[in-house]
Amino acid sequence: MPASSPLIFVTRPIPADALDGLRRLGRVQVSPQDAPIPRAELLAGVAQADALVCMLTDRIDAEVLAVAPQLKVVANFAVGTNNLDLAALGARGIAVGNTPGVLAEATAELAIGLLIDVMRGISSGDRLLRREGFPGWGPLYRLGAGLQGKQLGIVGLGQIGQATARLARAFGMRIVYHQRRRAAAEVETALEASYSSLNALLSGSDAVSLHCPLNEQSRGLIGAQALARFKPGAVLINTARGEVVDEGALVQALRQGSLGGAGLDVFEREPELHAGLADLDNVVLVPHLGSATVETRAAMGRLVVANVAAGLNGAPLPNAVKTL
Ligand code: GLV
Ligand code: GLV
Repeated sequence: MPASSPLIFVTRPIPADALDGLRRLGRVQVSPQDAPIPRAELLAGVAQADALVCMLTDRIDAEVLAVAPQLKVVANFAVGTNNLDLAALGARGIAVGNTPGVLAEATAELAIGLLIDVMRGISSGDRLLRREGFPGWGPLYRLGAGLQGKQLGIVGLGQIGQATARLARAFGMRIVYHQRRRAAAEVETALEASYSSLNALLSGSDAVSLHCPLNEQSRGLIGAQALARFKPGAVLINTARGEVVDEGALVQALRQGSLGGAGLDVFEREPELHAGLADLDNVVLVPHLGSATVETRAAMGRLVVANVAAGLNGAPLPNAVKTL
């Protein structure tokens, strides 16, 4: 690539096929460590960049944009965009892209995996067996709860919420959902999902799974008040964003036993765990693996390359995020 070709800065190594795709578009500079890029390196890295490929752990705000005069396009290697200051990006006229759709099934599989694990005590049983040994089969030994016939409340019926609903239906669960805008009638019909207020969903569901984006409306949505509405013994699953849940209030509800259990893939102050969370046996903790399959990360890489290609050409991004 000639020195005049566009510079694409990538904040962390991503799948090799995606890097090859980017190298066909311009000069590519990749931050070498497989860890969140230190702020100073991010600021230095974007200085000459025409395109930025960033991770959900990178805050892209006015400070970053101020040192990146040539930046035309930001491609988030994630579907969530809460790490991006969309107003600042919009004000600069920078195109923004994300990776929707391709991670819906992988994230839904993990949500259902967590649900089954919590309801049937798989991880807690495994821990017990390793720690204390297996006393042998017993008619009353470690009884969990089945999924069949139970109500799953889905908060956010986007692509991930819908994929989760489809899988849950295969286990015989009944679907109730809440989001700000009611879904299209075809979606409700296909999933036999009924629309509900958030309060009715919380008080009527045996399990609640979060699939909403993180924004000012959803931050802290599941706090002490909401948790008090849960059906006694109900289960909370979060594969969305940690900040949707008030973890202090969650730990308290789990300790008191008003909540039956929780399956968490994301955390309020990621990668830190809230004090007490890891001591609770009715909680399954997974290190943000919703989209972490080989297939999905490759597909996310393809969307990132397509977004960068369009952005460098001044064309509309195939997966554009609305800036403000
Ligand atoms: C993962 O959390 C994503 O937003 O892609
Ligand atoms: C993600 O793919 C979503 O829109 O839920």
